[in-house]
Amino acid sequence: MAKPLHLIALSMTVALSAYLGPLLLSHFIPGSFIQHQLNQLDLSFLPTPIRSLFQTPSSTNQKCPEHTYTTHLISLDPLLIYISNFVSQTESQAIVDLSNPLLEPSPIVSHGTDSAGSQARTSWSAPLAQDSHLVNCILARSSSFLGTLLSPGRDEMGPAQVVRYTDSQKFDLHTDWFARPRITDEDRETGRRRLYNRVATFFVVLQSNITEGSGETWFPKVRSITPHPITAEGDRVWREHEDGGLAFKPIPGNAIFWVNLLPNGTGDARTVHAGLPVKGGVKTGMNIWPRVFFGPDA
Ligand SMILES: *[C@@H]1O[C@H](CO)[C@@H](O)[C@H](O)[C@H]1NC(C)=O
Ligand SMILES: *[C@@H]1O[C@H](CO)[C@@H](O)[C@H](O)[C@H]1NC(C)=O
Repeated sequence: MAKPLHLIALSMTVALSAYLGPLLLSHFIPGSFIQHQLNQLDLSFLPTPIRSLFQTPSSTNQKCPEHTYTTHLISLDPLLIYISNFVSQTESQAIVDLSNPLLEPSPIVSHGTDSAGSQARTSWSAPLAQDSHLVNCILARSSSFLGTLLSPGRDEMGPAQVVRYTDSQKFDLHTDWFARPRITDEDRETGRRRLYNRVATFFVVLQSNITEGSGETWFPKVRSITPHPITAEGDRVWREHEDGGLAFKPIPGNAIFWVNLLPNGTGDARTVHAGLPVKGGVKTGMNIWPRVFFGPDA
């Protein structure tokens, strides 16, 4: 049986406007207008991760500065990327000032327990409060660098941590992922059944006036895709370490990014690294450990 002609005409019109509608809309209404309208909405009832999907940084009271970093691919597997100018000098100084009164002997993580004052790690550290605009901007910058590595609404950036090494302090070979995934203190209290692990690490150097050739970050199991050490602002950023792998020079403002977990969620043993002993002066860095969550309530 043939369909009535007007029905066919109607469905063609619907199909055509479904296709052309957004095209015409996007032609006549610029994206910035739509974004502006979104920013006018009161989205405060939404959970933060969902709200952030609709908001640009300009919709918060203070703007985050545009990033000015450049990236250098060092290793594909495990993935390790060197980031030049991840934070500005002003940002570094402000974070150092924020953390100065908070620094305490660093805790060390071994199979899910923290114990301060271990000989494997002799440094000072402080978690950074998440109510600082500056810290939130750097976390947002890191989050956008990660792209789809985190699932919006499920995963979190976690708190950033400042770490300081002074003369002869070091952190022996270790990995940043947990052999046994962890539960947050908040989830322990509320009984929410989810676990997390540190999917990746940003190690950002904030300041360093230590002796040349000391205090490098050494990855014994990472090989570079190119034999020529890359340079950033005229500095060679890594050298081949005498015991194998790559040793990265601490250069203020720059960061090392790497992925800690294999695709199946297991920790990647090849991401083992050490903060080599610091000679003279002070080296201050910031760790950002994005968290992936799993379990029935994730
Ligand atoms: C995850 O993948 C790695 C590398 O392919 C493998 O060695 C490991 O056994 C896997 N772990 C699990 C729990 O499947
Ligand atoms: C290195 O920097 C720290 C922190 O700014 C400062 O207290 C110290 O005097 C400096 N040391 C040297 C050797 O320049």
